Amino acid sequence: MYSDKVMDHFKNPRNVGEIDNADGIGEVGNPVCGDIMKIFLKIENNVITDAKFKTFGCGAAIASSSMATELVRGKTLEEAWEVSNMAVAEALEGLPPIKMHCSVLAEEGIHKAINDYRVKKGLEPWVEKNLHSHEHEDMTCQH
Ligand code: FES
Repeated sequence: MYSDKVMDHFKNPRNVGEIDNADGIGEVGNPVCGDIMKIFLKIENNVITDAKFKTFGCGAAIASSSMATELVRGKTLEEAWEVSNMAVAEALEGLPPIKMHCSVLAEEGIHKAINDYRVKKGLEPWVEKNLHSHEHEDMTCQH
């Protein structure tokens, strides 16, 4: 059911933990399954120099947070904002359809952490494109 990449990132998740004095923190949850993801970002000169996560959730959510933190490291905030849940799922060599919503959590967590940073800096938060509204409607978690 799961790709080797998903199993790898689930069994050996990268970037687990917290960042002391993180510049941006984003916590998101899926109300249906109760899974929670918290993303920590270190940002220097508009570039994400470190990213870590803590996820209380299913295997797909853990693999997605691991991959998402890998993908945004070294990116500018603009580039990191464009990392979609589809990109996370693709980098994981696919997720089963009923698990796609788990990767949405990762995208939302990154977005929330970026906006947390922007608001702290006195900048306007960026607006979600709302591309994934159909996935939100289907946030049914099947463990
Ligand atoms: Fe809840 Fe995956 S995030 S089942």
